[in-house]
Amino acid sequence: MDDLKGLILSGGRGTRLRPITFTSAKQLVPVANRPVLFYGIEAMARAGIGEIGIIIAPETGEEIREVVGDGSRFGVKITYILQDEPSGLAHAVLTAEEFLGTSPFVMYLGDNLLQGGITDLVEAFREGSPDALILLTPVPDPEHYGVAELQDGRVVSLQEKPAEPKTDLALVGVYMFNADIHEAARAIEPSGRGELEITDAIQHLVDSGKRVEPHVVEGWWKDTGRLEDMLEANRLVLDTVERRLDGEIDEASTCEGRVVIEEGAVVTNSTVRGPAVIGAGARLTDAYVGPYSAIGENCTVERAEVEHSILLEGSSVRDLDARVESSLLGKDASITRSDLQPRAYRFLIGDQSEIGVA
Ligand code: G1P
Repeated sequence: MDDLKGLILSGGRGTRLRPITFTSAKQLVPVANRPVLFYGIEAMARAGIGEIGIIIAPETGEEIREVVGDGSRFGVKITYILQDEPSGLAHAVLTAEEFLGTSPFVMYLGDNLLQGGITDLVEAFREGSPDALILLTPVPDPEHYGVAELQDGRVVSLQEKPAEPKTDLALVGVYMFNADIHEAARAIEPSGRGELEITDAIQHLVDSGKRVEPHVVEGWWKDTGRLEDMLEANRLVLDTVERRLDGEIDEASTCEGRVVIEEGAVVTNSTVRGPAVIGAGARLTDAYVGPYSAIGENCTVERAEVEHSILLEGSSVRDLDARVESSLLGKDASITRSDLQPRAYRFLIGDQSEIGVA
């Protein structure tokens, strides 16, 4: 087999994560304080893939380039490929045709997280050389995904977000293809949502008698497209962090369990109950940070309580009576008590924000 290349799709607009994605790429939203995209790049690097193309969109491409760089810090070479319009995953493959050439490749959706990595799967693909290898996992809501139907261990049909799914086996956002996928992507028509669906291109491979192998993943998988998924991905990854206290923690504070306090963070008269990560430059003062929280760089939590939440860099929570829970705060967002009269809620909120008050 020719050497495998990697293709990471980071062009998606992230509409389900607005308003965060009005100003930032969804693939850069952090999970346990690291951009979700980094996990995919690392999974590829670990599987021995040295050349990776990243598909970017005009709106967010620059930001992704800046954060990810040329790949040297991951030990890979990264090429950026601009996809002008959000015309679907199969369209992204066609956009990358020049980069991919005739190489087989692993395609990875930039907002997906796969617990077990992809090393074993890449190995199986290299050894068995099928025309395509797809990853599947049972989900409770298959209508939100591509859905596969299997017979005797083979893929017989695939449908993109069917209203009445035939099975509960969702297509995970990691696929392996040989160069036949280009022809299949050219042969299909846009779907109801106006996109060239990779699901339809794979169905085309099946219909043309190509060998499409299914693989049901064992560990957890997360598509981090929505807030609940982000919070859950955060929870799953935080469960694996190793305790490390590099910041400044005073005597009156306690850090219980799996807690990371990065260097430059300052914890004063506070309790941090893990799993939790506190980024560099963050300040916790008279605060409680509870399990499954990721507090970004330079955040402040002061006389307030935060649990099961993600705070993006520079955001702050101050002087609140009730605990902040299951929340995602964008960069430099702030929530604070106001002493102004009349006593009232005062908001400056971006489009499509959501607020729940007790
Ligand atoms: C895409 C694919 C879908 C797949 C999902 C996995 O959906 O079209 O088949 O199950 O990724 O994350 P999208 O995120 O574009 O709605």
